[in-house]
Formats: sequence, C-alpha cells, structure tokens
Amino acid sequence: MPKKLVLGNWKMHGGIQANGDRLKRLVAGFTTREAHCDVGVCVPHLYLAQAQEMLKATSVRWGVQDISTHEEGAYTGEVSARMASEFGVAYALAGHSERRTYHGETDEMVAAKVARCLDVGIVPVLCVGETLDERERGETRQVVERQLTAILKMRPTDDARRFVVAYEPVWAIGTGRSASAKQAQDVHAFLRQVLDSWSSSLSSVAILYGGSVKASNADELFAMPDIDGGLIGGASLDANEFLGIIEATQPHTVSQS
Ligand code: 13P
Repeated sequence: MPKKLVLGNWKMHGGIQANGDRLKRLVAGFTTREAHCDVGVCVPHLYLAQAQEMLKATSVRWGVQDISTHEEGAYTGEVSARMASEFGVAYALAGHSERRTYHGETDEMVAAKVARCLDVGIVPVLCVGETLDERERGETRQVVERQLTAILKMRPTDDARRFVVAYEPVWAIGTGRSASAKQAQDVHAFLRQVLDSWSSSLSSVAILYGGSVKASNADELFAMPDIDGGLIGGASLDANEFLGIIEATQPHTVSQS
C-alpha cells in the first residue's frame, strides 16, 4: 500500500518567528514517524526560503498554496512555477476553494496552473469540493466530477505519482464541521472511479481529504479505504495537533467504528 500523504496548508498565517518555532517542533516530532507517511507544508511564498533552509535536510517537504497561470511576464504580484521550483518546492495547491471563491479562479485557470506545475516537476494538488447548497441539492458528484475532468481534459497526465487530488467540501473548511468518514469515503470512492475510468494509470492517484481535520477525527478518516491522507488547514498551524494527525496515519492507531 502506498504511504499516506499529509499536507499542511498554512494559508495566510505565520511570520518568521512563528514559522521557525512551528517547523522546529514539526521536524523534531516527525523524526520517529517518517516511515508511515509523507509530509509537507504549503507556506506563503515569502517564507519559501525559510522553509527550504529549515527542511532541506529533513524528510518534511514544502510547497506553495498557489502559482501563476503564466510562465513568465508582466503579471504584477504573481509567482511562477519555475520560481517556486528554484526553492525546491515539491507540491503546489491548485484551485483551492478560497482561490476559486475570492479570486474568481475558473477551471481553465486551474488547468493552466496544473500544467505549469507539471512542466517544472512540481506535484499539483488539485482541490475539488461542493458547497453546502450543492450538497443539499444532491449535486456533490456532479460538481466534483466536473471540476476533476475539466482539468484532465485540458491537461492530461498519466503519471499517478505526479498528480494529487484533494477533496475539500467547502462547507467543512474552517467550520469545525468535518465531513463524516462515510461522507468523505463515498466521494473519494467516486473520485477514484472517475480517475480509473479516465485512465487506468490514474487509479492510484492519492486522494486527500481536507476540511476541519483534527488529531481527534483523523484516524477515523484515514481508516477509509479511499482516503490517502489529508490536506490540513487550521490544525497544521499547531505543531502538536499536526503531529497528532500524522500519527493517525500509522496503521496501529486506526480504530474503525
Ligand atoms: P481547515 O482544516 O482549517 O478546515 O482547512 C482546510 C483547508 O482548506 C486545507 O486546504
């Protein structure tokens, strides 16, 4: 079975001092757990050099939360995938719901970001997920399938190791209300089916769950057969809590209800 993957998304939090403390604690705590999962933190661009310096000799990887749709040019304020790759970035989130909602990112833009990542060897983490209204209207599958296949159509990839999907129901992000393990598993199994029918080489793409994951609910979520790890927002800012989530990827902590 492939290793689970736990990624932190710090969003727009942190500062040099706080990041340093958090990363020091994470590295110290992760040393004994590294065999069980891959771990990374997606930091604000400004702190990439700090993350690289502090993590380069460790098993913790680092990533970004967004990159430009463009390769280079007169795009004030943007950061390209090539620039991120110069700082050893392993992962880049693409199409996080906060980008789709607050920055009007369309599937076309997200596909371009995925393409830019693949071009430079950064693993894109494609975020998909329905709003509460869409779930209540029974449209969850339709929405996530549209978001996923729109990207696959525009930028096909057949290397499962170079592409990650994150299911993040919008109603579960930052609300303290995680999807239940069963709700998440249902959508993950569906996404797995979509990936597999798209290309059998994509059947082993890692599908992460994100949305109010904490140390206390992670083991139940990670015990599900199609949940390959987590994309963690708020709880990734607290090193102990994040380490607790990492700990939950260990097979012996799994308690299935
Ligand atoms: P929370 O874990 O804070 O709900 O955020 C999830 C998320 O958006 C990760 O990308």
